[in-house]
Amino acid sequence: MLSAPALAVLALAASTVASTPESELEAKPVPQAISLQSRKTPRGHVNSIRKRAAKAIGVPLEDFFLGTDLQWFGNISVGTPPQTVSVVFDTGSETLEFASTECTSCTQKNKFDPAKSSTFVRGDRVSTLPFATGVGVDPVVDDDYVLTIRSATDTVTVGGVAAKDVSLFTIIKQTPKFNLDPFLGIQGMGSSAEGFFAAVVKTGLPSLFSLFVTPNEVGNAELLIGGIDKTKFKGDLIYADQTGEGDWEVQSSQISVNGKTTSRLKRRRNIIFDSGTSNILFDTQTTEAMYALISPDIKPFDDEPGAYGLPCSKIGDLPAKINFTFTSQAGKAFNLTIPSEELNVGPFTSDPSTCQTLINAFDGLELVGGSLLKHYYSVWDVGGQRMGFAPNGF
Ligand SMILES: *[C@@H]1O[C@H](CO)[C@@H](O)[C@H](O)[C@H]1NC(C)=O
Ligand SMILES: *[C@@H]1O[C@H](CO)[C@@H](O)[C@H](O)[C@H]1NC(C)=O
Ligand SMILES: *[C@@H]1O[C@H](CO)[C@@H](O)[C@H](O)[C@H]1NC(C)=O
Repeated sequence: MLSAPALAVLALAASTVASTPESELEAKPVPQAISLQSRKTPRGHVNSIRKRAAKAIGVPLEDFFLGTDLQWFGNISVGTPPQTVSVVFDTGSETLEFASTECTSCTQKNKFDPAKSSTFVRGDRVSTLPFATGVGVDPVVDDDYVLTIRSATDTVTVGGVAAKDVSLFTIIKQTPKFNLDPFLGIQGMGSSAEGFFAAVVKTGLPSLFSLFVTPNEVGNAELLIGGIDKTKFKGDLIYADQTGEGDWEVQSSQISVNGKTTSRLKRRRNIIFDSGTSNILFDTQTTEAMYALISPDIKPFDDEPGAYGLPCSKIGDLPAKINFTFTSQAGKAFNLTIPSEELNVGPFTSDPSTCQTLINAFDGLELVGGSLLKHYYSVWDVGGQRMGFAPNGF
């Protein structure tokens, strides 16, 4: 997650990293596990691999369904013997962090117990990790998504491949907003191979992963590490260059809404693809230019700065088809589309007669997340530094 308006808790990115004694977090600018705009966290060190991976590793994903399908999570194992840790696979961040039994403010069940792992090595760096986007579609307000994390290393096992001495962080404190999460943490899947992903690649698998994040009613969502499952999409994958450092970005030449565009929407921009964020986020002027092409009734929602909405009675079947235009590696224009049904992300808690809309304003960030990704099979090619898309095959 990066961080910003997404409600979904999470998956977004951390906006800044403050750390106590000279943490590497400060020394090495690497995007954080949750975050986008921010400095980067230390890279994971993988010293050895226990098993060889024979074929691509499929990790089933569950839909964190809050009325809208915008966030998916799955299991990895940490420690010896392995303890199951549920995580959001977050392309908006690069590190692994999850709640440990040391976190008394973490209300999730089945927290990781470091005392039960013979291979767990506790580090001494404690840092705070604020996110720009959260787990749901709520904008982050007044730093209400902040994790306090401690460095450590342990064995991480994903789909039978074990990587020893992976750098990770245990969450020792979290703000209450995170308590909604049905998962324990976040596995960063940024564009430079880190942690267990680097270990998997060393077994000889292609350096890429694929995401099939489906609507709740379809199910069978999956992260495939080291492979592409051709049965899950239609037609051919179209690839575009990835230009982010740490995060995943593709340059776009135009945004259009319901077939119309404006000079503001025609600018070239690098759009971040963040599987950990639910909504989409653009700067205020771009956000308002898009809403102007949908309905004059969509207004900023004062209780949650950055969020917009309109009376639920008016949202009905408002057309809100958003096309993002990109250029393929072959030099051809192609669009990725968010269909109208994604416009309504549900009523605001503080005012259930007002329905929140898909786009959150966040100056300095241009990002799409789950609401776009669920309409495509996506390939995140670390080795080739490119992204591939094809319409989902269901
Ligand atoms: C993750 O593991 C838990 C506990 O073993 C299990 O109940 C759950 O179904 C698993 N989730 C997925 C998506 O495989
Ligand atoms: C992409 O969408 C725009 C606006 O909706 C449209 O004008 C253009 O023809 C589309 N491009 C392709 C390659 O389909
Ligand atoms: C959006 O892009 C798709 C795919 O290129 C295209 O078929 C469609 O016509 C575009 N939508 C609008 C409203 O222009």
